[in-house]
Amino acid sequence: MRFMTAEPFRIKMVEKIKKTTKAERQEWLKEARYNVFQIKAENVYIDCITDSGTSAMSNEQWAALMLGDESYAGSKSFYKLQQSVQDLFGMPYVQPTHQGRAADFMMAKIYAKPGKYAIGNMHFDTFRGNAEVLGALVVDHLIDEGKDTASPPHPFKGNIDLKKMDKLIEEKGPENISVVMMTVTCNNNGGQPVSMQNIREASLLAKKHRIPFVIDAARMSENAYFIKKREDGYQNKSIKEITREMFSYCETAIMSSKKDGLVNIGGLFITRNAEVLKHAQQLAIVHEGYITYGGLAGRDLEALAVGLQEGADEQYLEYRINQVKYLGDRLREKGIPIIEPTGGHGVYVDGRRFFPHIPQHEFPSQRLVVALYEEAGVRAVELGACAFGSKDPTTGKDIFPEVEVMRIAISRRVYTNNHLDVIVSALGEIYEQREKYRGMKLVYEGPITSLRHFTAGFELLPAEE
Ligand code: F0G
Repeated sequence: MRFMTAEPFRIKMVEKIKKTTKAERQEWLKEARYNVFQIKAENVYIDCITDSGTSAMSNEQWAALMLGDESYAGSKSFYKLQQSVQDLFGMPYVQPTHQGRAADFMMAKIYAKPGKYAIGNMHFDTFRGNAEVLGALVVDHLIDEGKDTASPPHPFKGNIDLKKMDKLIEEKGPENISVVMMTVTCNNNGGQPVSMQNIREASLLAKKHRIPFVIDAARMSENAYFIKKREDGYQNKSIKEITREMFSYCETAIMSSKKDGLVNIGGLFITRNAEVLKHAQQLAIVHEGYITYGGLAGRDLEALAVGLQEGADEQYLEYRINQVKYLGDRLREKGIPIIEPTGGHGVYVDGRRFFPHIPQHEFPSQRLVVALYEEAGVRAVELGACAFGSKDPTTGKDIFPEVEVMRIAISRRVYTNNHLDVIVSALGEIYEQREKYRGMKLVYEGPITSLRHFTAGFELLPAEE
């Protein structure tokens, strides 16, 4: 029922967004070589390229900005942030960073070792990239249900496959596994949650072999909400009780605070290990800024201290998760194939099932992203053949990923369900006419394949005679 997802806030300030014509969008697409990363945000009507750094701040966060203490060392704002982090994570030490990937770098530098394995459910690109640059072997061991975008609903498609993890430890020897990292929720396969049981069991398995267990906590509160709703024994626990239990199993966590922190910039490196903290602090000093600001202004620290708490508010989370589900439900009603159940921060449309006649090497999900922008000025993002494609290092041949989707990421507290209805009707029309669409050809990619989607250029393949 629609009223159940109504916003638990009033809109106090608005930002105008521009409606454009299809002819204009076609021109901009051509100029952008059919890569929506190259389109100006002002020419986007509803921007669903990411949920990161795009949240609307509350009146309390804006008020907190004014309290920002910009002192180089020992700023008052840092201690407020520390307190907020301790409250939510139940962990003692925090090092702020300018955004999540800087914390990823610290995590990789401290925990990923050259020639050794970093096992995860499904690592996010920026930890993976940092670890690979440092020579680590990065492995994803997501459960099979999570890898198959057409699999029936499962409550925790972000879970790690404990058997595969155990087997790798057994085969390679625990001394060759440098870290196990769990990403909650799991971004790359649909914003799918990880169960508490899976976090607990993975951490026990890692501990048994003296392998450090760590968490990528970008969407920790959304994950906690799913645990509360879907896992036995958590219905009567508060979100904070759940987050504290989640982090009780790990030594260190990193967070891009641009997601569940409800701020536009910032990251966190959080640990219970005092030695690890010292290492992180020194890395911060050379790469980020002094310990008590880590590349952020005092006002950013203040807004984050408040945002973390608001992001873990149960009424907010109920609205948030149900708004994303609203979009998923409406698309399903039109027969549009999505990853089910709908995840925490977006709806992931299955490109191969949407355009079954477009082979993966002709970028079906990218074609859908282009069609959605062209028809409705809505910008989503491809997570498929272009973003996750790789090349065989010896033959240079393309390797295509298992997951082939278009992600429609929903910014927090930004769009109403009316905006989502626009997406539904546009996608519905494209779906009805899906047979008329042809694939795409990649005509430019930068030197690093894993980063090619940001600057790639495409052409539309001509319609068949
Ligand atoms: N970890 C996860 C799970 C993420 O989703 C992201 C960013 C990061 C780390 C890196 O954080 O952007 O603050 O440096 N995800 C964005 C996205 C970019 O669109 O999903 P960051």
